[in-house]
Amino acid sequence: MRIVLLGAPGSGKGTQTDAIIARYGVSTVATGDLLRAEVAAGTELGQRAKPYMDAGELVPFDIVLGMIENGLKTLATTNPKGFMMDGFPRDLAQAEALDQILAKINQPLDLVLFFEVDYEEIVKRLLGRGRADDNEETIRNRLRVYEEKTAPLIDYYNRKGLLRTVKGTGTIEEIGARIRAVLDEIA
Ligand code: AP5
Repeated sequence: MRIVLLGAPGSGKGTQTDAIIARYGVSTVATGDLLRAEVAAGTELGQRAKPYMDAGELVPFDIVLGMIENGLKTLATTNPKGFMMDGFPRDLAQAEALDQILAKINQPLDLVLFFEVDYEEIVKRLLGRGRADDNEETIRNRLRVYEEKTAPLIDYYNRKGLLRTVKGTGTIEEIGARIRAVLDEIA
């Protein structure tokens, strides 16, 4: 199973990953987690990425691509159950780069799961979480960046026939059941 989780910041992608991993045995690549680990370790890459993350802007393409490319190829070829991307791709350039990486290893995506949640609910969730980038100003900018750069991927994947939409409101268990209904079809 090779899937992408797509959705606005706070739409619940990260919250659902453990259950997806437990049920389907896929490996996961979450660019936000990888970047936060680089920042916490104080690496040069982390130092370059931090100002963008603090502002809620996308980290430059070369940083993110260099970070995931080898890891993704390894995951895709070593775990026969497949992989799940969370937080990548974030714009058209990243989506095209992902297509190219996966074409090279002959492992195309099976589907893209879009979490549909309205912005009012998202702001409420993120203000209640309190991660470093969960202050009101940064949240608003993350949503603006999402709208401008990431939301066009809904149409991009829809045109490829890969998009499946899941309503992302309700309890975590209710959303998990909706996701299972979609993913069981390809498991
Ligand atoms: P990233 O780490 O990807 O964060 P994000 O996009 O802001 O997304 P979140 O992790 O906040 O949202 P989520 O959908 O996973 O929601 P979650 O499950 O956590 O990116 C951070 C930054 O890194 C970016 O701004 C950018 O700078 C950089 N970056 C990352 N990837 C990049 C890339 N590819 N290119 C360039 N830059 C990149 O849930 C949120 C909250 O809601 C939690 O508190 C949770 O408990 C709660 N919640 C979840 N589900 C429910 C529910 N059903 N009901 C009530 N509460 C819920």
